[in-house]
Amino acid sequence: MKDISAAAKLSALEVSGDVGDMPLLKTVAFLRVLSMVHQNHHWAAFSPTQMSDHLLFERLYNETQEEIDALGEKAFLYGESYMDESITFENIQDMWSLLVKTQMGKTVDSPNALVENSLVAELLFAEFLDGLVLGLQASGRMGDGKGRGLDKIIQDMQDTHEGHVYLLRQRLKG
Ligand SMILES: [Fe+2]
Repeated sequence: MKDISAAAKLSALEVSGDVGDMPLLKTVAFLRVLSMVHQNHHWAAFSPTQMSDHLLFERLYNETQEEIDALGEKAFLYGESYMDESITFENIQDMWSLLVKTQMGKTVDSPNALVENSLVAELLFAEFLDGLVLGLQASGRMGDGKGRGLDKIIQDMQDTHEGHVYLLRQRLKG
């Protein structure tokens, strides 16, 4: 089995160092990539013996997709808006590259490999969120009640993805 903890051991700062001046839209891009990863795994886990994995991945991508719209709207409220559509896709490409750089396998050749890949992606997202919080606090956009709802959205995201990590780890144990 892959060394998953090592795979996700990019420091939060290394991850968030890339976030630049559009941190929320970068986060939206990461959520999109994360949801695509889980949905690909949902489709790949199609055999009768993989039914519980099939449903687990469905839950993960649905919960992730629900976060995208709320955060995207918040991003625009904070003045992060793209007039250049191609930047959206560049961000998605950046986040995909980040996942692959952390040893998330490109080939998924076994049921466990699907679960491991989803777990690596979730662990990295958790690191990314830690870095995001530090960045937003440092720039005064979060904390001390300045977040105007952003604090709650991010806290909820942290809880949701902590839950995803737990479910995937339980599945690998079982
Ligand atoms: Fe489906």
